[in-house]
Amino acid sequence: METFVIHGGKPLFGEIAVSGAKNAALAIIPAAILVDGVCRIENIPCVSDVIIQLDILRQLGAKVRSMSPTVVEIDCRGMKNKKAPDEMTRRIRASYYLLGALLGHYHYAEVALPGGCNFGGVRPIDQHIKGFEALGAVVRQEKGYVTANAEAGLLGGNVYLDVVSVGATMNIMLAAVLAEGQTVIENAAKEPHIVDLANFLNSMGADIMGAGTDVIKIRGVEGLSGGVYSIIPDQIEAGTYLAAVAAAGGSLLIKNVIPKHLDCITAKLSEMGVEIEEYDEAVRVTRRGPLTRVNIKTLPYPGFPTDMQPQMTVVLSLAAGTSIVTEGVWDNRYRYVDELRRMGAHIQVDGRVAVVEGVERLTGATVRACDLRAGAAMVIAGLAAEGETVIEEVHHIERGYEALVDKLRRVGADIVRSSKPDDVRAIPKAK
Ligand code: UD1
Repeated sequence: METFVIHGGKPLFGEIAVSGAKNAALAIIPAAILVDGVCRIENIPCVSDVIIQLDILRQLGAKVRSMSPTVVEIDCRGMKNKKAPDEMTRRIRASYYLLGALLGHYHYAEVALPGGCNFGGVRPIDQHIKGFEALGAVVRQEKGYVTANAEAGLLGGNVYLDVVSVGATMNIMLAAVLAEGQTVIENAAKEPHIVDLANFLNSMGADIMGAGTDVIKIRGVEGLSGGVYSIIPDQIEAGTYLAAVAAAGGSLLIKNVIPKHLDCITAKLSEMGVEIEEYDEAVRVTRRGPLTRVNIKTLPYPGFPTDMQPQMTVVLSLAAGTSIVTEGVWDNRYRYVDELRRMGAHIQVDGRVAVVEGVERLTGATVRACDLRAGAAMVIAGLAAEGETVIEEVHHIERGYEALVDKLRRVGADIVRSSKPDDVRAIPKAK
């Protein structure tokens, strides 16, 4: 089993460059299915979710060439397969974007989606389906597969989302760009990666207006042609390093960011007494004194991002006084709290609310990365804690953080990736 071993209590000093946004890449890669030409996509993050998404396209018959670690060229013109490979698609939640992209181009899609539970309980896709149906598709969910079919082609329509959903907004956009006529998405999500997907599609010839507001209008076009596009920096990766300095101390220049996208995070950190200086494409974060308690409620953008909730809860667990964290997006996103308690945090959870009583210090322990952001929170806790922290199941963290260990080591963290033998009870005893 791969683990991270951290010897905490060392402040971080230096510079960290943020990689491309995972959640933008996960939608832009399948969007290439809609394009009749070569898409050169730059600033691709080298994380396992993105590698899987690229492999799925390869298995569908697309030509995918890595030009450098951060640049790929995708040509989907020879693609024959409209049924996404099961084994791969079940491994990443974002494989649902294949539905919108395949349906948009071929008027037919068949995708096996991941089952089971994670922090959202069973994550629904009813709003995605509502959107496809508004464009004239017939959608079926059977035996773990979702099939969307629009034999007569797709016709633009109006969709009012009952919940603000990032995935549904992007998926409907993908299905609508080549549909006949105009599609209007109301109560759309406004996250930076939604704007990035719209910018990518527009740069290839689509006609999308209003991305970044709650009403998006998509006029269908005849076709998209190839081009070059560079993905925006990852807001959550940047936020994670900001939170790491807030918890462990020190001063970091976080480079390759769009400071505006970080406002929701930096505003809270400033309220806590952390110093923030903004530059054109960088932010400096410095922690000098003690942390002040604050309350946080996660909301769709431009509210405080749910994907930063676990990391900030770690910071608050070291702030004097009582902080209230309210999770406004997912039902079950506090599984990591049990792990944090093992490091000495005082946190009580009741439904979507966590009451965090600040403690003077955390102490190292063996903990588990329950999911991607929970794992990032454990790294932050380990950096701030006294003694040794061992984080298990780090494959969750590697789904979304490029070169996390290297980036942190370069700014003074004592963190290594290590292999631990799997459960020793599984090794048969010699007779
Ligand atoms: C994306 C992000 C995820 C982030 C989330 C919210 C990716 C790959 N993942 O997930 O990291 O936490 O946005 O910022 O980009 N919902 C429905 N019906 C639907 C769709 C969603 O009820 O059809 C609900 C969900 O249960 C949840 C809320 O809407 O309570 C938001 O979900 P959504 O924005 O769709 O999240 P994802 O796009 O799956």
